Amino acid sequence: MNEKTLVLIKPDAVERNLIGKILSEYERNGLKITNMRLVTASKETTEIHYEEHKGKSFFESLVSYLTRSPIVALTIEGDNAIERVRTLNGTTNPADSGDNTIRALYGISLSENTVHSSDSIESAERECAIWFN
Ligand code: CMP
Repeated sequence: MNEKTLVLIKPDAVERNLIGKILSEYERNGLKITNMRLVTASKETTEIHYEEHKGKSFFESLVSYLTRSPIVALTIEGDNAIERVRTLNGTTNPADSGDNTIRALYGISLSENTVHSSDSIESAERECAIWFN
């Protein structure tokens, strides 16, 4: 089934000039980038994006990390795109992420893990609408 998912290339990656390398991972796997913008995320937008984590111990540091410098927001489309992008990204903690996943290659830590992507059709619709009205 053709799907659309949201990806954020997070501050740690943009700061280290990794945008091109990360985009090429999606493209060489046959996925299409269909919207893209470089943006400094506001606190409000970031809190809405991560609302499911509100109240958790790491929420404040997550928001301050994501807003500290520019990110790239993009939508990616393709057959089964939500799962394929998550497989390419790897697990949340780069230390546990499979070989050659984006987080294993470039992630710094559990909190600075380089990329975000939607985890379901419902969250993809919600998150695409947050970053691309
Ligand atoms: P992401 O996939 O963007 O979704 C939520 C983010 O919260 C996650 O990546 C991590 O960056 C961060 N996160 C999740 N769990 C923790 C944790 N235990 N400590 C710090 N950050 C976390």
